[in-house]
Amino acid sequence: MSSLSLEQITRQMAVYRADFPILAQMVRPNVPLVYLDNAATTQKPLAVLHAVEEYYTRMNANVHRGVHTFSEKATAAYEAARDAVRDFIGAASSREIIFTRNATEAINLVANAWGLANLRAGDQILVSEMEHHANIVPWQLAAERTGAQIVPIPITDDGHIDQDAYQQLLASGPVRMVALTHVSNVLGTINPIERLIQMAHAAGALVTVDGAQSTPHMPINVRTMDADFFAFSGHKLCAPTGIGVLYGKRALLEAMPPFLGGGSMIDRVTFAKTTYADLPQRFEAGTPNISGAIGLGAAIAYLRNIGLEAIHAHEQALIRHTMAGLAELDGVRMYGPSADQRAGLVAFTVRGVHAHDLSAGLDRAGIAVRAGHHCAMPLHEKFGIAASTRVSFYFYNTLEEADYFVRTVAEVQRFFTR
Ligand SMILES: Cc1ncc(COP(=O)(O)O)c(C=O)c1O
Repeated sequence: MSSLSLEQITRQMAVYRADFPILAQMVRPNVPLVYLDNAATTQKPLAVLHAVEEYYTRMNANVHRGVHTFSEKATAAYEAARDAVRDFIGAASSREIIFTRNATEAINLVANAWGLANLRAGDQILVSEMEHHANIVPWQLAAERTGAQIVPIPITDDGHIDQDAYQQLLASGPVRMVALTHVSNVLGTINPIERLIQMAHAAGALVTVDGAQSTPHMPINVRTMDADFFAFSGHKLCAPTGIGVLYGKRALLEAMPPFLGGGSMIDRVTFAKTTYADLPQRFEAGTPNISGAIGLGAAIAYLRNIGLEAIHAHEQALIRHTMAGLAELDGVRMYGPSADQRAGLVAFTVRGVHAHDLSAGLDRAGIAVRAGHHCAMPLHEKFGIAASTRVSFYFYNTLEEADYFVRTVAEVQRFFTR
């Protein structure tokens, strides 16, 4: 699909809407849903819904336990999903793929298992000012327990990591861990992640990449970027809620103690001592989200069939169009870099209209967006605002929806400021 023109890609993307029954729903009589809150969660195609149904109707059993046929079928499907994740993000081995509940739990796993074993008083953890709370708070908790220190990496006014300041922080360390988002969920900035990781490694620090907003929207290769840890959530890429992934380099994961204890993660248990299972089971205590993992495998197959490059190109066309439309409106302020340097989302404020009023006004027209601090309070504070409105696209959104959104923002603004 990558050899097609942008216009052809955009036309092709509209075809996929038929795979999402929810996109044909009405918000209220005669008001169709225009779903533009994809950074919060995405809709699920029939292929994913069917995969989950198929698991429960044809092979439901617990995994890695029974020697009966259905347990073996369920285990094979669960492990096939792990292999699908491995290929999707370019990991070397399925042992490096740990299923978690979501990106938040994946980062907590690293902060606890790696952090508590490796951080010492006086060590520094660099956390960029554009992080979601999911990549701030787990590190703060680990810092409180180890005496390590959290140091913010400043960002520039146009929403990029300030690389000079970052270099200085790395040089003045001792920095043990850098917590960095690949794509900001507020600014939309696509960080130059390979370079930022190289800089951290040159200073002897590891990097945990929050891939929650990049993995659904662009090709990912954890080996090319040389991430030490990489986290994402299934529900933001068409999979069910309750399934997420932690990738970790094998040697790092092998050296880490477990995060949660219980069934499935052990080798041998006695009251005197327990030894632990090999990767990845060591980090998957208890019965996992089997149907969620199988749904994630189906979502990955679905997205790969469309093509992540085509998805990215289409979303960039949508965001360019939307930002150009919003720029025409008086009193609209958009946060973050220009359209060509960002993913398919933009957070903005409208003079004279509170973000929640704007969001409620848009909802009356059937448009779903997000209003608030988007779990990035330090970032909103930096820009001197309490809340913003965020519009975020996925491949099934259309230019017509983007136009309707901009027109409706203008109408709501007129209503509140007349
Ligand atoms: C950049 C970023 N990181 C982490 C998360 C947390 O994702 P989850 O709530 O699925 O764990 C989000 C969710 O919005 C996000 O946008």
